[in-house]
Amino acid sequence: MQSTLPNSATSLARDKVRNYFRDVIDNHKLPAVPIVAGKVLQMIQDPNLNVEKLCRLLSDDAALSGRVLAVSRSPIFALRNPPNNLAAAVKVLGLRALNTIVLANATHSLCLKGNKTSEKLWNHSLAVALAMRLLAKRAGYRDGDMAFLAGLMHDVGQMIFVIGDPQGFAMIGQEMLQGGGQMVDKEHEAYDMDHTLIGMRLLEEWNLDDKIPQAALNHHSDVGADENNELAGLIAVAEYVCGKAELGFFAVAPVPPEAAIKRWQLDGEEAIAKAVEDVAKAFNEESALFKPA
Ligand SMILES: [Fe+2]
Ligand SMILES: [Fe+2]
Repeated sequence: MQSTLPNSATSLARDKVRNYFRDVIDNHKLPAVPIVAGKVLQMIQDPNLNVEKLCRLLSDDAALSGRVLAVSRSPIFALRNPPNNLAAAVKVLGLRALNTIVLANATHSLCLKGNKTSEKLWNHSLAVALAMRLLAKRAGYRDGDMAFLAGLMHDVGQMIFVIGDPQGFAMIGQEMLQGGGQMVDKEHEAYDMDHTLIGMRLLEEWNLDDKIPQAALNHHSDVGADENNELAGLIAVAEYVCGKAELGFFAVAPVPPEAAIKRWQLDGEEAIAKAVEDVAKAFNEESALFKPA
């Protein structure tokens, strides 16, 4: 489809953006994990973790500590006496869930406040994360937290596009709505690269488990059910479910390959309808927990 962007001024702007992203890729000039989050993530790895110290550090970031407390008090844990301080919250959550919340918060810091494309992308990312956790659990995948994080991060490269070119990227979204197609193709057309590569680089920079950047890189191109790459297949299945739950991001998600559908037990209309219903419900119940205070 022909671009709806007006000509010379736009092509100049696109050249600039293209150079900007080339620079980002070549020089690794990518946003860092916010300072407190980075320190917390490091501290969680320490086998001799001091919880009191960890809580002191968490309380340096009001938004983050508010989020930790809010999640620990959520109905998901069904506690008769929900925690009312950080130490109790950390105890309820455990370190893996804390790790997820800290990373969710860091990822949210890449969203532009009040920008509709950014908000839509955040909602989509969270929906895919929730869908992946749900499908992973259903299929007996051992690491639901890893699945959740891979979902949350899968389109992080697009967050970088929104930051670098808010108007141009919003127009790409509109073009998708009108003309269909795939975002990665539009991104190549506009920037000579797509969000999977930028996403992978950012996630490597953030030192996440190798499986997560790999899934971000492959989620549009290599989505079989290969054991070493199964999270990319799970992303494709979750994107499909989220699209049906009206939690997609501009493009219509293609039907995933048969092998991925089988691996993640989504065969048949009934299984799909149930997953769509469960994901919509999880999103309604949990999205507020991960949004900024
Ligand atoms: Fe994507
Ligand atoms: Fe996506």
